[in-house]
Amino acid sequence: MSMSHKRPYIIAVDGYSSCGKSTFARMIARELNFIYIDSGAMYRSVALFCLENNFCENASIDLKKLMEKLPSLHITFRSNHNTGIQETYLNGRNVEEEIRSIRVSEVVSQLSKIKDVRQHLVKLQRKLADSHNHEISGIVMDGRDIGTVVFPEAHLKIFMTADVDVRAKRRYDELKAKGLEVNYEDIRDNIMRRDHEDETRKESPLKKAGDAYVLDNSYMTVDEQMEWFRNIWKEIAKENYDYRNR
Ligand code: DC
Repeated sequence: MSMSHKRPYIIAVDGYSSCGKSTFARMIARELNFIYIDSGAMYRSVALFCLENNFCENASIDLKKLMEKLPSLHITFRSNHNTGIQETYLNGRNVEEEIRSIRVSEVVSQLSKIKDVRQHLVKLQRKLADSHNHEISGIVMDGRDIGTVVFPEAHLKIFMTADVDVRAKRRYDELKAKGLEVNYEDIRDNIMRRDHEDETRKESPLKKAGDAYVLDNSYMTVDEQMEWFRNIWKEIAKENYDYRNR
């Protein structure tokens, strides 16, 4: 008996660092009952793996050693039973907290410039979407190149941006609330450096897909962003685009 092969509806959310992509992507996934996939967590997991295996020395990565091991890495996502929030697993181990650490953040931009690493992760990202195609109606994936490289055929593309001072202030408040001693100027510089790295890298730089809707959330609450999304969704529905029948 052959099963019909229904492709999931794909929503790509790309944009600058620290502008609330994952909060937004997670919320729209919840609203539509779609699966949320955090592609940045995949780059972060590979960075953690490099650190743990001493593949990083003096800010350079031993690509030969990494490429030998990369095909056997298992990066998966599972929902936390208590919070319902999806967490990242590396070879079966929950690494959700470790991949957000400063040491990982320092290595990951370097790592995400490497063509071979990107090609491997893009393949995995496409496979992840495919592996869900019988159970769910859709996927929301966030990152930098989802609408341009991973799923150029995504049904809906959203490109997020926000004023650098607003992003720096949000990040500053977040870290302060965690009890960390932080300097606003350092955070602002760090965000600007990351924007520059994301936009100027040779491999899949961050750029808005021609057919993406732009969401500048500098002066928007999360509720207002959801309102913005619902309006877009209604517009799509008006165009008689029924994702359930795809
Ligand atoms: O979104 P994030 O901060 O968790 O991303 C971590 C790093 O991975 C960041 O340096 C950008 C990079 N990244 C990427 O190059 N392509 C993606 N699709 C996702 C993240």
